[in-house]
Amino acid sequence: MESQTVLVITLLLVLPIPIILIYHLNLSSSVCRVLKWPRKQSTQITSLRIYPIKSCRGLEVTQTLLKSHGLDLDRRWMLVDTSKNNFLTIRQIPNMTRIGTALSPDGHELIITVPKADISEKESFHTIRIPSHPTPDWLAENTSIDQVHIWDIDTDGYRYSEAINAHFSEFLGRSVALVYKGPMPRVLKGNGDPSILGRVQTTGFPDVHPVLIASESSLSELNQRLENKGVDPITVERFRPNIVVRGGKAWSEDSWKLVRITGAGGPESARGTPLDLDVLARCARCHVPNVEPTTAVAHKKQPWDTLVSYRRVDEGIKWKPCFGMLSAPRNEGVVGVGMRLEVLEETNEHRYMAGF
Ligand SMILES: *[C@@H]1O[C@H](CO)[C@@H](O)[C@H](O)[C@H]1NC(C)=O
Ligand SMILES: *[C@@H]1O[C@H](CO)[C@@H](O)[C@H](O)[C@H]1NC(C)=O
Repeated sequence: MESQTVLVITLLLVLPIPIILIYHLNLSSSVCRVLKWPRKQSTQITSLRIYPIKSCRGLEVTQTLLKSHGLDLDRRWMLVDTSKNNFLTIRQIPNMTRIGTALSPDGHELIITVPKADISEKESFHTIRIPSHPTPDWLAENTSIDQVHIWDIDTDGYRYSEAINAHFSEFLGRSVALVYKGPMPRVLKGNGDPSILGRVQTTGFPDVHPVLIASESSLSELNQRLENKGVDPITVERFRPNIVVRGGKAWSEDSWKLVRITGAGGPESARGTPLDLDVLARCARCHVPNVEPTTAVAHKKQPWDTLVSYRRVDEGIKWKPCFGMLSAPRNEGVVGVGMRLEVLEETNEHRYMAGF
C-alpha cells in the first residue's frame, strides 16, 4: 500500500518535467502545436503591394526588396498642386486611385496610365513611361528640384516636365505636378522619432512610416461584420498595405512589437539573413477605405461606420479606428510571397503619437 502511494507520488512529480521542459525551452514547436499551447505567432506573407505614386493605384509583386525607407518603389512619387506644392491624396481627390501604375517586364520602367478626361463608354488612357530608378543624370536633365509639402513637413522633390504633368492636370481638373522624392532625408516622426526608435530612419512619401503590414484574418473578421449588415465584402487593397500576411487570430497584430521575416517558403535568393521590422504603431484610418479602388466611388458609410464601432482601440488616437500595423525595417533584403513572418516581441503598450 505504502510503496504504491510512493510510486504514484513519484510519477506525479516526475511526469510533468519533460512537458515543462519542452514548453519553456520551446524545444518543439510541433509538440506545442499538437497540444495547442501558446507559442510564438508565425504566419505567412500572402501578398506584397507597392504604390509607387502616393494615393494612386498600386501593384502586386511576388518578390521585391525591403529597404529601410519601405518596399522598393513604394511611395517614391506623389502629385502636388502647383500653386503651393502641397501633396494631394485620395482624401480630397478619390479619382487619383484611377491612375494606374505597372512595371515594364524588366522592371526598369514605371508605366503610368492616366484616364483621358473625356468620358466615353470605353476607357482610354494616356500612357507615361518613366525610369523606375532614375539616375542622377536623368533627374538632372529631365526634372527640376523643388520644395514640396507633405502634412506639416517640408521636404524636396524632383518635379517632372510639363509634358508629363499635363496628363495628370487634365484628368484631375486642376494644375498638378508629379514629383520624385529628392535627397533631403525625411526623418520619421511620432512613434518613429529617433528618440524613440533609437536610430535615425527616413522614408519617402508614405503618410507616416515606411511599411504597413495587414492581416487577412482581421480583414475576414471585418468582412463578416459587413456581410452581416448586407454590405459587400471589401478587398485588402482598400487599406493600401505593403505586406499582407495570412494572420492568426483576428487583430492579434495589435500587440506586435518586433517581427522577423525569414526565407522559409520564399524565393531562393531570399534565404539569407532574416529581415527584422520594428512595429511602431497601429495604423489609424480615415475615410479612404470607403473608396473603391477601381472606380473611385466612395461608399457613404462602410467600412468606416463598422470600423468606428469596434476598432477605436488605440489610446493615442481614440477617435479613429485602426487597421494594420506601421513598421520600420531594421535591415534590408529580398522579401517574397510565401516567406514566413514570425512575431518576436509583443507589447500591450502601443500608443499612437501623431507623426506629422
Ligand atoms: C471622377 O472623374 C469622373 C470623370 O472621369 C467624374 O465624372 C467624377 O465626378 C469624378 N469623381 C469625383 C469624386 O470627383
Ligand atoms: C531625359 O529623358 C529622355 C527621355 O526619357 C531621355 O532620352 C534622356 O536620356 C534623359 N536624360 C538623361 C541625362 O538621362
